[in-house]
Amino acid sequence: MAKRLNNVKKERGEEIYKLLKQDHNEFKAMLKKLEKMGNSGEKEDLFIQFRQELLAHAKAEEQVFYDRLKKAEKTKKLVLEGAEEHAIAEHLVKKLSTIGMDEDRWPSLLKVLRESLEHHIEDEEGDVFPKAKKIFSKDEALMIGQEFSEEKQRRLQGTEYEVDEKEDVYSSEEDTLGFQQ
Ligand SMILES: [Fe+2]
Repeated sequence: MAKRLNNVKKERGEEIYKLLKQDHNEFKAMLKKLEKMGNSGEKEDLFIQFRQELLAHAKAEEQVFYDRLKKAEKTKKLVLEGAEEHAIAEHLVKKLSTIGMDEDRWPSLLKVLRESLEHHIEDEEGDVFPKAKKIFSKDEALMIGQEFSEEKQRRLQGTEYEVDEKEDVYSSEEDTLGFQQ
């Protein structure tokens, strides 16, 4: 509990852009590390940490940032695309969770996830952020940052991530392709 309060306190006062960018950098570093690591319990732990943080980040971002940007003409299309990219990343993460790390396709899938996230991050930082900065005042960006931190923490401390195939829009496709075990 003390750790959580410290984190929120430390992050208070940051604009949403900075908080999202910090997370992006962390995700890129984690993925690079995962790509280099040999299979081990340590690698599994890192992947679980990555998965929890990525999902909490994406959901909190959609809830407090995208939701507002959907209402603005200049950013509506961009955030709808962004949300689809989140769904793809979530699908890849779920797939990585269901196949064994020792399977040949695990590293290939991880690489696809990294490339897809790098593209998503480039679009957000290069296109969404500059447009959002024209829409939100500094105070609004700070408030959204605060809401983001709280929502992300709430999600990180909530129930353990579960693979729910019913929520996976791609699951029927997976069945057809024989990717399910
Ligand atoms: Fe995003």
